[in-house]
Amino acid sequence: MEKIETAGKPDLERIAEIVEDHREDKWPLIPVLQAVQQEFGYIPPEAIGTIARAFGLFPAEVQGVISFYEQLYTVPRGRRIVRVCRGTACHVRGGKTILKLVKQHLGVEEGESTPDLEYTLETVACIGVCALAPNIVIGAETHGNMNPKKVTKLFGERKVGPDGTG
Ligand code: FES
Repeated sequence: MEKIETAGKPDLERIAEIVEDHREDKWPLIPVLQAVQQEFGYIPPEAIGTIARAFGLFPAEVQGVISFYEQLYTVPRGRRIVRVCRGTACHVRGGKTILKLVKQHLGVEEGESTPDLEYTLETVACIGVCALAPNIVIGAETHGNMNPKKVTKLFGERKVGPDGTG
């Protein structure tokens, strides 16, 4: 199971080991960033200096690479990514309401993760199954013809407390 760092300082020794594992690679930066993300679930900001020093780069250069690739993250992400489609077909069939309800159930805004790191909420332009609009995707699973009842069925057991915990 994927290890996700949820609190405290990241293990910088482990990050140094990952750097060493890739020291001989011809183009090591991306593989190191991917390996760190694989291990921690994201790239801890504290790791950037270590990685930059190891390869003779400025931290801003490493940060620039992370920012360039949409698949690299410097904040923890949920174990399950919820993507609500905001494409035209989904929009005209109530996608906006679905997004609002998912936000309410999870207690997060777009781009945020639940405090227990179970879910991260995102939106996507179109997932290519417009005939089933409105759609949402949870992990690798698409849920079509969404309506408020289905949203409740999918997320209803989550009781979001006043402090945002589920
Ligand atoms: S617009 Fe939502 S799947 Fe195409």
